[in-house]
Amino acid sequence: MPETAFINGRFLPLAEASVSIEDRGFQFGDGVYEVIRTYRGRPFKPEAHIARLNRSAEAIGLRQPYSLERWVGCISEGLRLAAFSEAKIYVQITRGAAPRDHAYAQDLEPTIVMTIRELHPVAVAVQAAGVDAMTIEDLRWGRCDIKSVNLLANVLARQQAKQAGVFEAILVRNGEVAEGAVSNVIVVEGGTLITAPEGPRILSGVTREVVLSLARQEGMDIQERYPSEKQLYGASEVFLTGTTVEVLPVVRIDGQPIGGGQPGPVTRSLAKRFVAQTG
Ligand code: PDD
Repeated sequence: MPETAFINGRFLPLAEASVSIEDRGFQFGDGVYEVIRTYRGRPFKPEAHIARLNRSAEAIGLRQPYSLERWVGCISEGLRLAAFSEAKIYVQITRGAAPRDHAYAQDLEPTIVMTIRELHPVAVAVQAAGVDAMTIEDLRWGRCDIKSVNLLANVLARQQAKQAGVFEAILVRNGEVAEGAVSNVIVVEGGTLITAPEGPRILSGVTREVVLSLARQEGMDIQERYPSEKQLYGASEVFLTGTTVEVLPVVRIDGQPIGGGQPGPVTRSLAKRFVAQTG
């Protein structure tokens, strides 16, 4: 079975998988999710992802019925069935199916879905050259720390970036840089890393945490505060972190070169150290 799905305890080919049109995930975006990738066939930081899944579920009053052990078992069975050399694991829990009503009954059975597809990482040449980004007004709600399937503002921002021919949308509110549409943003000023603090305005990235702890080990100064837009344009380096982007240099923002318009030494060194962590 190559592309593999899992629905409420059962594995099946992805093309045959379906859920009810009355699922609240479909009708209201009433659910939470995680994206985990493999390195050398092994899921990267599954405990951190499942811990965040539990936090997200709890924050919306959703019962997450599986233990960490059960998730780890399901993920490894899914990887075995799919048999890709590297895979992207998508986990989603929604509040379940019910006749449409904004308010919900407490006894709904959550819908538990997982898909396993082949991973297509950012191309090595793109990683090496860095990417363009653009700033976009952050229109999201006040609980961006919840990894909710309700992603409309992120979808619209990333689409705007795609149409502009750039890789990522950097979300800015009141002149403060929060994060990307699908990544966290880290600004480098000399030897200092500046990035938005954990809290309701960003998704607390698993990759962000790994990279910040590598930087701490290097003795770098880390300031968890919102970079200003001015700091973003004036930075010596800017990079993105995330499961799908890893550590990705940003070399131009809104058409303006960052640093020398080339990936800088801090980003390159952290990217290298990050890769070393994944083995
Ligand atoms: N998104 N911020 C946002 C808004 C994100 O959507 C993501 C990841 C991150 C990075 O988090 P992590 O390092 O834990 O992957 C930050 C996933 C990959 C997605 O929605 O596809």
